[in-house]
Amino acid sequence: MTEQQQAGGYPRGFVWGTATSAYQIEGATGEDGRGPSIWDVFCRVPGAVAGGDTGEVACDHYHRWREDADLMTDLGAGAYRFSVAWPRVLPEGSGRVEQRGLDFYRRLADGLRERGIEPYVTLYHWDLPQALEERGGWRDRDTAERFADYAEIVHDALGDRVRNWITLNEPYCSSIVGYGEGRHAPGAKEGHGALAAAHHLLVAHGLAVPRLRTRGDERVGITINMSPTVPATSSPEDRAAARRMDLLVNRQFTEPLFGAAYPEDMAETFGHLTGFSFRREDDLKVISAALDFLGLNYYYRIHAAAAPYAEPDPARRSAFDLGVRSVPPEGGTVNGLGWPVEPDGLYQTLTGLAERYGEALPPVYITENGYGGGDELDDQGRVAYLRDHLAATRRAIAGGVDVRGYFCWSLVDNFEWARGYAARFGLTHVDYATQKRTPKTSFHWLRDHIASAG
Ligand code: NOJ
Repeated sequence: MTEQQQAGGYPRGFVWGTATSAYQIEGATGEDGRGPSIWDVFCRVPGAVAGGDTGEVACDHYHRWREDADLMTDLGAGAYRFSVAWPRVLPEGSGRVEQRGLDFYRRLADGLRERGIEPYVTLYHWDLPQALEERGGWRDRDTAERFADYAEIVHDALGDRVRNWITLNEPYCSSIVGYGEGRHAPGAKEGHGALAAAHHLLVAHGLAVPRLRTRGDERVGITINMSPTVPATSSPEDRAAARRMDLLVNRQFTEPLFGAAYPEDMAETFGHLTGFSFRREDDLKVISAALDFLGLNYYYRIHAAAAPYAEPDPARRSAFDLGVRSVPPEGGTVNGLGWPVEPDGLYQTLTGLAERYGEALPPVYITENGYGGGDELDDQGRVAYLRDHLAATRRAIAGGVDVRGYFCWSLVDNFEWARGYAARFGLTHVDYATQKRTPKTSFHWLRDHIASAG
């Protein structure tokens, strides 16, 4: 522990916050001129979302944000990560700006600052305007250009109140899960389209960076999700399978961002998907724009074993038939959704990033980490999860990784995408029938932890 580090194992100025996203909490999807997003449309597809749930009302945060901001004060948080809904600002994705949408976020940012809470704004947390999807969505390079325009519009409106900008949240999910596996909006099952989406999301990020830096005091970053992949056994086959998963989930994003290169094994793993015609010569330069921070979302590790390919002929293989099976360790702890609980994976991710990218890695903020469970108020599983993941974070800090903040997912229970409202991640329980908020045991635990960390 260096002198810079306070008691408790966190560096001076360590940022404590919670995170949410627009579609998951706001509701009010038809208010103040908001246009439809791909999630509004996807939620209406029979069977797409558990229980037929939608984000139409969600936590009604659009009307109850003051109460939610007061919860942050009670928690002792100094920061809050929320997202701006693109279709509130540009109902058709581009062109006409909806001032009432911008005004909502200005009020929110002001309300936070009055309470001494620093806003961290994510510009894209999966709610693409439907109008852009109808023109190709993230398969199409034009969406990246439109994103950069949108980023500039939000920055113009909020730049006097917001310093910390996150371009994208988890481009892996918006591309691979949304356009490849079809489990998220827009529900496509494509190979080439999903890889193109991943690439165009990164280009969108890179194009937005300079447009968010016009005042000079901004701090700009991106949030990616990472899951270290562990071979189920030491056999060469399982190791190769783990490496393919690592490419799909992690390296496809980290290498262009911080290594200024496309991973070498992209061609051999995905080349059968008609190649990489969406890449342009200067893209890597755009994507690898220097950042002020990296936002890291960590939930779990992936244990991978080689499995027979569903389609033996490589030329006909679907996008994500990678010949991999996920095999969580037997007897290991899992959360309420069956996700392995492995705090070591967070330590491994943080130290792995620092080792691999060295000087090219900016300071890291953990922009999401949390526990999915049921509707219990005495959420001991979440308490243990937070306690152990924060210990792993301190271990990485002690080992020299520059981690500057921790945002717990999430402030309140909310719409958990395809799992609907049954899966709950909140520090605060939401009774969706009455919208009553009740802090859980984990809320009190984290409040005490923040207080003792200074
Ligand atoms: C990551 C996503 O960013 C967030 O929207 C989601 O609710 C959490 N993970 C939990 O799955």
